[in-house]
Amino acid sequence: MRVKDKIVVLTGAASGIGRSTAILFASEGAYLILSDIDDEGLKKTLEAIKEGKDKASIMKVDVTKPEEVKKMINSTIEKYSRIDVLIVNAGVVRVGQVEDIPDKDYDLLINVNLKGTHYTCKYAVPYFKKQKFGSIITLASVAAHIGQLAHANYCSTKAGILGYTRALALDLAPYNVRVNSVSPGATDTPMLQSDVAKQARDRGVSYEEVRKEFEEEGVMGRWARPEEIATGILFLATEESSYMTGADLRLDGGWTTQ
Ligand SMILES: NC(=O)c1ccc[n+]([C@@H]2O[C@H](COP(=O)([O-])OP(=O)(O)OC[C@H]3O[C@@H](n4cnc5c(N)ncnc54)[C@H](O)[C@@H]3O)[C@@H](O)[C@H]2O)c1
Repeated sequence: MRVKDKIVVLTGAASGIGRSTAILFASEGAYLILSDIDDEGLKKTLEAIKEGKDKASIMKVDVTKPEEVKKMINSTIEKYSRIDVLIVNAGVVRVGQVEDIPDKDYDLLINVNLKGTHYTCKYAVPYFKKQKFGSIITLASVAAHIGQLAHANYCSTKAGILGYTRALALDLAPYNVRVNSVSPGATDTPMLQSDVAKQARDRGVSYEEVRKEFEEEGVMGRWARPEEIATGILFLATEESSYMTGADLRLDGGWTTQ
C-alpha cells in the first residue's frame, strides 16, 4: 500500500478526477478527508469506494469561502494532528469568446480555480511548516501550457496555478514540503463533457464532432480516463517523487509535445 495511513485532504472529490483519486488513495490505505461543494456527489464517491471506505470521511466545503476551507483544515488537524498530502483539485471551466463570456463566469473561474487553490493552501501551509513534511499537489491543465480555442479565461487561471505552485514550492522547500502540479490533457469527466457540449452548441456542430477534435489533440488520439490522472497524483503524493518540487507533471497524451 503506497499511502498507508497517510492523512490526505482532497478538494473537488465529488466527481471526475477527484472521485477517481479518492478511490485510488482509499485502496492504497490512506485516511481521506473528501470535500466538495456537491454533497450528493460526495456521497456517491463514498459509495464508489470499495476498499478502505471506513477510513474516508466527507465534508461539504466551498473552496471560494475561506471560513469553510479553514474549518476543513483545522478539523483535520484536530482529528489527525497532521496532513501528509493536500490535493487541491476543485475546479470549474467556462468557455466562450472573450467578448461574450459573462463577467460573472470569469469571476467564478478566478474564485474557484485561483482563489480556491490559494485558500486551500493558505490555511494548510502553517501546519505543513510546523510539521516539516508533506506533499501539496495542485491541478493545473494542458490549458496552462498552450492556448485553446475559446478558453482564454480558463487558460489564464490554469497558467496562474503553475506560477502559484512553483513559487510556493520555493517557500516550502526549507520546510521539507514538496509542492507540484499535475496538468491533465482532455480527461473524460463531467467537466470536459459539458465543455464539449457548450462548444458544440456555440458552433452549431455535433457533440461527436467537437469530441473527435479534442481526442485528436493528443498524439494518442483518445481522452484520458480519470484513473490515469489519479495515478499521477498518487506518484506525487509518495516518496517515489521525493526529489520533485516546483514541477508540473503533464499527463496530456502527448498534446503539448507536438
Ligand atoms: N477533465 C479535464 O479534461 C481536465 C483537464 C485539465 C485539468 N482539469 C482539472 O482537473 C480538476 C478536476 O476536474 P474534473 O475534470 O474532475 O471536473 P469535474 O467537474 O468532474 O469535478 C470538479 C469538482 O470540483 C467541484 N467544485 C466546483 N466548484 C467548487 C467549489 N467552489 N468548491 C468545492 N468544490 C467545487 C465540483 O463540484 C466537482 O465535483 C479541475 O481543477 C480541472 O480544472 C480537468
